[in-house]
Amino acid sequence: MDLKEHIRSIPDFPKPGILFYDISTLLAEPAAWKATVERLAEAIEPYRPALLVGIESRGFLTAAPLALHLGMGFAMVRKKNKLPGKTIKHTYDLEYGTDTIEIQADAVEPGQRVVILDDLLATGGTAAAAVHLLRSVGAEVAAAAFIIELSFLNGRDKLDLPVHTLISYDD
Ligand code: PRP
Ligand code: MG
Repeated sequence: MDLKEHIRSIPDFPKPGILFYDISTLLAEPAAWKATVERLAEAIEPYRPALLVGIESRGFLTAAPLALHLGMGFAMVRKKNKLPGKTIKHTYDLEYGTDTIEIQADAVEPGQRVVILDDLLATGGTAAAAVHLLRSVGAEVAAAAFIIELSFLNGRDKLDLPVHTLISYDD
C-alpha cells in the first residue's frame, strides 16, 4: 500500500506558494487509514509508552485511533483556552508572533512515558513546543511520530528525541 497515493496535495493553501498535503483523502479510505494506523503502531509500540499525546487538531485524528489500537491512554495538547480545570501553558515563537499550547495539569503522571503524535512534521515548531510542554509536566517523552514529514524544512533538527515518519516529501 503506497500511502502517498491517498494524500492529496493542494497548491496555494493556506497561502500562495504553499503546497498543502491533505490527509482527508487518506482518512476517507478505510484500507489506507488502517495501514496508516498499523504502521504508526509498529513504530511506536517498542517505546512502550503509557500514553499517546495528540496535538490539536489533526494530531487527535492520528493519536486517538492508535491509542485504542495499542491499548494505551490518550491525552490532548490543545491550543490555548480550550481545556477546563488547571492547565499548564507553553508559549513559543512563530515566524510572525507567538502561539500558546496547553495541557491539563493532571494529564500526565510524573515520569510517565509518552509518545507525541501529529499528522505532519513541517518546521518542527509545534512538535518542539509540545515536547517542551510535556517535559514541564514531568513526562518522559520517548519519541514523536508523524504520518507526513516535509524533510526540506528540517523539522527533525528541532527535536532531541527519536522521530518516526511514514511518508516524506523532499520538496
Ligand atoms: C499543522 C500540522 C501540524 C503543524 C506542523 O497544524 O497539523 O500540527 O501544522 O507545522 P510545524 O512543524 O511547522 O509546526 P495546524 O496548525 O495547521 O492546525 P490543525 O492541526 O488544527 O489543522
Ligand atoms: Mg496540526
